[in-house]
This record gives sequence, structure tokens and C-alpha cells, in this order.
Amino acid sequence: MVTAHAAPRAQVLVASNRGPVSYALKEDGSLESKRGGGGLVSGLSAIGSDVESVWVCAALGEGDREAVRRGVGETGVRMLDIDPAVFSDAYNGVANSVLWFVQHMLYQTPLEPVFDAEFRRQWASYEAYNRAFAEALAAEAGDAARVLVQDYHLALVPGMLRSLRPDLRIAHFSHTPWAPVDYFRMLPDDIARQLLRGMLGADRLGFLTWRWASAFAESVAGVLGADEGEWVGSPGGEGRVFFRHGVSGERAARETDLAVHPLGADGDFLRRRAHEADVEERMAALREQIGEGRRTIVRVDRTELSKNIVRGLLAYRHLLDTHPEWRERVVHVAFAYPSRQDLAVYREYTEEVGRVAAEINSVYGVPGWTPVVLHVQDDFARSLAAYRLADVALVNPVRDGMNLVAKEVPVVSDSGCALVLSREAGAVAELGDDAIVVNPYDITGTAAALHAGLSMAEEERAERTKRLAVAGTAVPPRRWFLGQLEGLGG
Ligand code: F6P
Repeated sequence: MVTAHAAPRAQVLVASNRGPVSYALKEDGSLESKRGGGGLVSGLSAIGSDVESVWVCAALGEGDREAVRRGVGETGVRMLDIDPAVFSDAYNGVANSVLWFVQHMLYQTPLEPVFDAEFRRQWASYEAYNRAFAEALAAEAGDAARVLVQDYHLALVPGMLRSLRPDLRIAHFSHTPWAPVDYFRMLPDDIARQLLRGMLGADRLGFLTWRWASAFAESVAGVLGADEGEWVGSPGGEGRVFFRHGVSGERAARETDLAVHPLGADGDFLRRRAHEADVEERMAALREQIGEGRRTIVRVDRTELSKNIVRGLLAYRHLLDTHPEWRERVVHVAFAYPSRQDLAVYREYTEEVGRVAAEINSVYGVPGWTPVVLHVQDDFARSLAAYRLADVALVNPVRDGMNLVAKEVPVVSDSGCALVLSREAGAVAELGDDAIVVNPYDITGTAAALHAGLSMAEEERAERTKRLAVAGTAVPPRRWFLGQLEGLGG
């Protein structure tokens, strides 16, 4: 058991790699703070000020590290200043280049993955980084506190934390998909086992859909085998589903629940925010770029390999090829915001997105019509403006835990928007009935879906949009967060 540096009082703790606030070091030496949005931020605000909470996160860059050194910070946020080399190995090397790739099935398997000595070295950093979180949580948590650990960055934390503080109630939530067992088993056996055992250190494991939860259950059964325990209940069916840990050793009589919490869009916030002045301004600018009387196909993504932006552009190109009637009558507004630019493969992908967009414009564009309007500078107000204007939203990831864009667009759409949605996005479980569902690898199929979306009768589009907005806001972030907390007991 770890002795806390001060009397620990927090009753609710959240742990995630990226925290609710980040700091930039300005040229004059001052620190500028920026507060992030997202489900956890608004979820945590739902627990009320009478419950003491702590959010443990990593210092991500020089600004964050400087803030830790200077003791600058927000109440209730504890940033961990992890050695930059260890952090980079854990975050860039293991979390983003291996675990993300496995769960999103992104490897080009004739050449990748390569689990060599370099990977083993990075894995040791991943362990150290997880240990830093577990120790900080152990030090901050009050008696029998509830701890919500987030995502693949911190898969080992539940197990580590349980050995430090057996009194805590621990949940782990996966925001990503979970790979089928045969894909997951590409990981070296000892690593696969360590990951699963780490997560099973929790009392409760949450996923965004039953598809991912079931795949996890299958990985546990396939990789750990019957000796370590067994699943009780049927994923997606009635009643409780839990892993009964094996009868030998210290894990005897412990149970880990499997649960699904499908995060939804924050309808109230979006409806309000989408009508503020800066969004109206961006709408005017976009209308100008699109041109009078034209249809709009919108996509908004981080430039993330799993988002399938290039195939989306190729599908649009195929649409212009096979349906020349749309030329000069439609514009593809594509927002592809920078992500994980420390990784070469992400930088190359970003370039490829720009190259394909430019090529479409050079082949098809004519004076007065630019077929693709690509923006790479992150701007939330402009994203909302595009959501409002969209006739068709294209959400075609090769694999995605949920995809909130699919849920957000229908909420703020001004006059109804057809949703072209990948069958590999978690959101399809809730939106599939009213979306036009596509196989994300199928370029011609996606082009046909874009055509169907553009051609959909106005009335049908409006009806579908209404139903999509209801389904997409069924579990707003606050309820999603409280659901996980309640799952750990009152
Ligand atoms: O999808 C899982 C997730 O953790 C998201 O919550 C988040 O958007 C992303 O992955 C992490 O991104 P980053 O590497 O930029 O922190």
C-alpha cells in the first residue's frame, strides 16, 4: 500500500493521457492555458462540487512541463511530469504506433508489425508511464474511492493500482474499437497477456459498443485461456456479463464486469454553440467558398489514418466521374485537422490527403468551381458552420470506436443532412437505420452512397435527420460519465 504525500481525499478520480487543460509557453516566458472539451470534461462537471475529484493526466509538451515545474495548475488536475523520453516511447511508440494500430487493424501485414528489441525497450517505458499513473492515483485517492481510467494508453493501470490500493473501485473505459482475437494475437504473447491482465485488474471494463466488448471477451478467452477464469452472461443480452477470475491464487473470487456505455453528442451545448456569432461568420465565409446554389458534402476529422480520408476523396472523385451531372453543382468541404504529427506515417498521410485533394481540383476544377475545399487549420466554429450547411455528411472510417461527428451533424443541421456512415464505426449500432451505411474500403459503393445522399428527397432527409439527432443525443456526456460511475457502486 502506498502512503500518500498528503491526506488523500478524492472520492472520484479520472486518469487519462490527455487532460482537461494544456499550457503553451509563450515567447515572453508566460504560460497560456487552453481548456479542452470532450465527454470527460463535461461529464466530470456533472458530479457536483460536494464530491472531491482529481483528474490525473500527463504533461504533454514543454508548456505543460513548465506549468508543473512552476506549480501552476487548476484545482483538481494533477499533471504528471514524466521523463520526455519515457513519455515519447510510451505515447508515440507503444500507444499510438502499436496499440492504436492493433485495435484499428491498421497494419500493412506483409511488413508490419515488427516486435523487436526496440519495441521491448519502448514497452518498458509504457510500463513505467503506467506505473507513474498508478502511483499518483494511489496517492490521491481517498478510502474506497472510485477511479475511472481511460483508454489504451493506460491499460496496465487497473492491475497496478489494484495491487497498490485494493480498497479502490476501479473502472477502465476503452474509447477505441477492440480487434478480433486473431488480430489482437499479433502482439507477442507475453505482452497480450500483460495487457489483458492489466485491464482485468479493474472491477468494471467499459466499451462503446457490444461489438468491441465481445471482441475483448473473446481475446481474454483466446489469449488467457480457461485457467484464469471464465465469462458469465452473454454480451449484448439481458443481465450482467462478468469475468469470474480463476479460483487459484489471489485473484480468487474476484469479478470484473463488462459494460457498454455508448457516448452520445451533447445536444444542448451544440445547439447553443452552433448559433453563436463566430459560427454565423464562418457560415458566410463558407457559403462564399462553396458558391451559390451548390450542394455540400462535408467531412470533419482529425487527420488520422483510421478516418479513411483519402478513400473518401477517391469516392468523391468517382462520383464526379460517373455522375457528371454533379460537376459544378457540388463541393466537398473536407476539414482534416492535424494529429500526431510526431509520427512520420501521420505526416505522410496528411501529405497524401493534400495531394489527392489538389489532384481532384486540378483535374475537375473550372473557373468559379473548386470541387474540394480542404482546410487543415483546426477551427471548431468553422466545423459547426460546415455541419449546419451540409447536405451530406461523409463519415467513412475504416474502424472507429464511436465517431461523434456522425452524431453531431444531425443535431445542428439547418435543413437536414444525409449521413453516409461506415459500417465499421461504433456509431452505426445506434444510427444505422437512418444512415446510408457503407463498406469503407469500397470506393464505388461509397460514391454511390454519396449520390444517394445528394439525391435524397428533402422530406425524407429531414425526417431521417430528426431521428438521427434523437438517437445521437440519447446518452449525452454527463449521463455517459455518471453511468460509468454508478456502475462502480454509489
Ligand atoms: O479514440 C480514442 C482517443 O483516446 C480519443 O479519446 C482521442 O480523441 C484520441 O484517441 C487520442 O488522441 P491524441 O493522441 O491526440 O491524444
